[in-house]
Amino acid sequence: SKLDYLQWLGVNAVWLSPCYPSPLKELGYDVSDYVNIEPRFGSLAAFDRLVNEAHQRDLHVILDWVGNHTSAQHRWFRDSRSSRSNPGRNWYLWRDPKPDGSAPNNWVSVFGGSVWQWDAATQQYYLHTFLDSQPDLNWREPGVRAAMFDSLKFWLDRGVDGFRLDAAPLFFKDPEFRDNPVNPDYKPGELPDGQLLPVHTRNQPGLHELFADLRAFVDRWPGGRVLLGEFYTPIEELVTFYGTRAPELHLPLNLTLTYSSWEPGVIGRIIAQYQGRVAGRGWPTTTLDTHDQERIVVRAGLTQARVAALLLLTQRGTPTIYYGDEVGMRGVDIPAMQAVDPQGRRTGRNRDPTRTPMQWSSDIYAGFSTVEPWLPVGADRGNANVASQSRDAGSLLTLYRRLLELREAGPVLREGLHEPLAAGPALVA
Ligand code: GLC
Repeated sequence: SKLDYLQWLGVNAVWLSPCYPSPLKELGYDVSDYVNIEPRFGSLAAFDRLVNEAHQRDLHVILDWVGNHTSAQHRWFRDSRSSRSNPGRNWYLWRDPKPDGSAPNNWVSVFGGSVWQWDAATQQYYLHTFLDSQPDLNWREPGVRAAMFDSLKFWLDRGVDGFRLDAAPLFFKDPEFRDNPVNPDYKPGELPDGQLLPVHTRNQPGLHELFADLRAFVDRWPGGRVLLGEFYTPIEELVTFYGTRAPELHLPLNLTLTYSSWEPGVIGRIIAQYQGRVAGRGWPTTTLDTHDQERIVVRAGLTQARVAALLLLTQRGTPTIYYGDEVGMRGVDIPAMQAVDPQGRRTGRNRDPTRTPMQWSSDIYAGFSTVEPWLPVGADRGNANVASQSRDAGSLLTLYRRLLELREAGPVLREGLHEPLAAGPALVA
């Protein structure tokens, strides 16, 4: 029902966070069936209608493809854990304990604690990078590959325009499961896995080949389908995922700005470094916010939201907007103790504040829902909402819309050369 709004705003594609069947222990990033829609969100028929209506408005639909792990309730994992001799045992990463019974190595879960969960019934540990209810798939197992490629085919045949590869650099682990070294620069407050350097858990052998195969696979569908990837990696590593020997992802997302401090010196350096490294290799992307990070309004303040819009929408390449940023939504401070987000409850870094309902109007539930939503609605909904700002020529929403119009109007902003200028410490030019 909001597609007309997206078209009016001037966006070209929508990325949906996971909407597959899921016990929602990690808000959908725990998929229990890759080829269906979670009944709480709709149905396949509703999804088909969404794609069809989107396409009628020249909007592309991109799905989130969670390839690193499944839900523990997925049939694949239930089979895999049922016995050591089950044919699906090797679909996940099972290891024997060390002689003293302890976990196979020192790897730390993103959400804290060991990545290894003991399974008493079969007397082995399985690996989970995130929650223990999110076991990691074994991408060196041909059955996994075939089944996951089939899931892409299922959606591509339904007209989906592309996928965002969740946790993209993590799909493969060191085949020998060696310990990761301690990170001397870890600061308390960062996510727990940061205590170790991801030497044996990130960007492991097999990853580039898989990406190249995925690219060749999606390229078989007509109409130009796109692969995006979520990467928390240094820029010099990020740009390798465009592919060196063979084409890989169209858009390895540059997320550096989502967690960097909002200071001209820092931002200017990142942009210059990134645009310099991407040039000649691929098509750049710019992202200020995701569902995993604090909103720009929280990080930079409301008065900087206009500057942020200008920065985001004047970069060469493809910008991505996080819903609600266009009206300056602040979100809601929700204490970690009350978090819906399991990361919030376990690590104190609560992502609920960033994920509150989209503010369409100043109504009690912001026009998002007619019943109380599972996260609270922002107190700023009186002004930070679409209905009010769409009528206001001076609003942030109007600025977003005009900038998007300007990008559409000619190639300069999208494709022009990027040349950083020295403009003093207070400016990015
Ligand atoms: C990605 C998602 C994040 C999720 C994690 C585990 O980082 O963006 O929201 O918690 O993967 O699936």
